[in-house]
Amino acid sequence: MASQPYTLKWGIMATGGIAQAFTKDLLTNPATRDVHDVAHKLVAVASSSSKESATSFLEKVKAPSGVNTYGSYAELVKDPDVEIVYVATPHSHHFQNTMLALEAGKHVLCEKAFTVNAAQAKKLVETARAKNLFLMEAVWTRFFPLSIKIRELVKSGVIGPVYRVIADNSFGCDRPNGKLEFPDEHRMVNPDLAGGALLDLGIYSLTWLFQIMYHLQPEAEKEAPRTIAAINKYTTGADETTSLILQFPKHKTMGIAMTTLRVATNLDSQNSAGPSIKIQGPLGEIQAFGPAYSPKQYKVIMRDAGGKVEVVDCPIPKDPERDWGHGMFWEADECARCLRDGKKESDTLPWSESIVIMEVMDEALKQGDVKYPELITTDVYDPKSPLNTGGK
Ligand SMILES: NC(=O)c1ccc[n+]([C@@H]2O[C@H](COP(=O)([O-])OP(=O)(O)OC[C@H]3O[C@@H](n4cnc5c(N)ncnc54)[C@H](OP(=O)(O)O)[C@@H]3O)[C@@H](O)[C@H]2O)c1
Repeated sequence: MASQPYTLKWGIMATGGIAQAFTKDLLTNPATRDVHDVAHKLVAVASSSSKESATSFLEKVKAPSGVNTYGSYAELVKDPDVEIVYVATPHSHHFQNTMLALEAGKHVLCEKAFTVNAAQAKKLVETARAKNLFLMEAVWTRFFPLSIKIRELVKSGVIGPVYRVIADNSFGCDRPNGKLEFPDEHRMVNPDLAGGALLDLGIYSLTWLFQIMYHLQPEAEKEAPRTIAAINKYTTGADETTSLILQFPKHKTMGIAMTTLRVATNLDSQNSAGPSIKIQGPLGEIQAFGPAYSPKQYKVIMRDAGGKVEVVDCPIPKDPERDWGHGMFWEADECARCLRDGKKESDTLPWSESIVIMEVMDEALKQGDVKYPELITTDVYDPKSPLNTGGK
């Protein structure tokens, strides 16, 4: 008889768009993605505004009965049934909210961008290490079967040594008179919420550069990149267009990561008319199609075979009973497997790598003179910070 899956018990912090998408993924049947060794249980959800919004969240995600609801994050992290907290607040809040959960002895999966700066990321890692807790940045794309397959292909040497990676994750939100479609208070452009293209979207372009050019470097030869960045700022002071060149001189590789809120990576509805990612070596090229955060097809184009193109589709499996499947369940499965195996960090997205990525973003924002307020950049934990106690 097959053994029972290891089941991880989740508490959800915040009730916004991505909290809903992730929770719906948690509630899908793992068998629909051919996963049988781990499973997930939703045990609690908290809203910073009211217990009622936590209750209405449960209705929106069609949660089963018996899930605890809270009107504050402090209550959520005290719930003894919660093993791991999924932090789904704006990135301005990630440091304080993740500290709140870690200090309460909970494991954490924290949405991207991990924090507002590298100093905060380091403090989170130090705290998780000191308290022997699991911690991971929720960069779901790394756990897609498509990403795993592409990393394997590159590692196998099929295209030879990678000389260049180009990745773009951009949204066409341009409006007349120089404005973007978001009101100035919106988290995408509001500096008080760590708004801007880089931390929100550019992180995925960087994810592709890093998972190919940095993650696959042998441990003994790890080389952090040199960063050159150019930034156009929006009227709010947040970055609206950011381009980065990452150079790994020892490895002779170079990556270009792009993001903007002005024009889309592709204009077609599936965002797949052209590749969003190109990984180039002397023997061939791998291209991924679809948004950089969730590509659903890749092509391998070989130079010596007269440009022969192999096309591989990697659709996101849907749970037919819930008519849902977004692709965030794979990162949740990673959390469950790490905890089952007693691991405090994921090999696929180690703490050190999240920190180096934050250092690259720090450097880019510095070069572009983008500044965020002290309340959201401090690396001093304050359980009574308004970021923990609510009050939008
Ligand atoms: N992985 C992905 O694909 C993906 C996609 C989109 C966003 N994200 C990330 O997820 C995070 C949340 O994004 P989202 O799109 O879900 O945002 P959202 O829809 O605006 O939701 C954010 C939630 O955070 C809580 N919150 C607490 N203080 C807040 C404040 N001062 N202002 C606004 N909200 C506040 C609110 O829930 P309560 O009041 O109920 O607590 C709110 O509903 C961001 O870091 C973003 O980068 C990830």
